[in-house]
Amino acid sequence: MSSQSQNDKQYSPLEQIPCHIAIIMDGNGRWARARGLPRLAGHRAGTENLRRVLRAAVEFDIQVLTLYAFSTENWGRPKSEVQGLLTIFEQVIDRELSELHEEGIQLRHIGRMRRLPPKFRQKVKDAIELTKNNQRLTLNVAFDYGGRAELVDAIRHIIIDGVPAEQIDESLISGYLYTAGCPDPDLIIRTSGEMRLSNFLIWQSAYTEIYTTPALWPDFDKEELYKALKVYNERERRFGLTPG
Ligand code: IPE
Ligand code: IPE
Ligand code: MG
Repeated sequence: MSSQSQNDKQYSPLEQIPCHIAIIMDGNGRWARARGLPRLAGHRAGTENLRRVLRAAVEFDIQVLTLYAFSTENWGRPKSEVQGLLTIFEQVIDRELSELHEEGIQLRHIGRMRRLPPKFRQKVKDAIELTKNNQRLTLNVAFDYGGRAELVDAIRHIIIDGVPAEQIDESLISGYLYTAGCPDPDLIIRTSGEMRLSNFLIWQSAYTEIYTTPALWPDFDKEELYKALKVYNERERRFGLTPG
């Protein structure tokens, strides 16, 4: 389906729209392999898909979107792939930032900053600063993100701050995570069919609904997002209580 006809398509309204959706954008390598292309071509196609998914998220009135772009474990990939990914992400900032800003998107980063090359780090910081007052949608980009690293960093900061043991509770820990102040994800979507979290939001996902689709990330479009929202609407979230 062309993006034009997709934009024109009317989607029947849904009762529940998740406030926060987090996506594990997986399958770029397989998308490229299926076309006889190098893996980096898949990553490029994956970043070209960002605009389409962001637009759809705004149209469906999602408040917070968190995208898993690069994990703490992804540094272990071949140097050429890691370098290529850093370059591609830098180009995305250059290419997309002004439009994101115009559309009212607030950009945030979750993960570690210190391993990012200085020029890249500066671009991320500038983008965060530029968009900090935008209200339409908050976009958390998880780059050099790992759920375990996040907990390690939180525990270190709690100790540095000298927090007494009796003051440590769930809400205090949540407040020390990279996602402090952000609601837990209502829905995690993983593309390309894998059934695992791969170190993504392991604390925050305690009661998150999980949806996987065989669609590879570069093919994941508005129609696919709507399918995920429909499935979410059929779920009964009980949070450990008896059925309502
Ligand atoms: C996801 O696509 C992007 C990153 C992890 C950076 P992959 O590169 O993992 O693609 P597959 O899983 O090999 O198809
Ligand atoms: C998870 O995908 C990380 C991102 C999408 C950024 P991976 O491809 O790295 O995860 P595994 O290796 O399949 O678990
Ligand atoms: Mg993968």
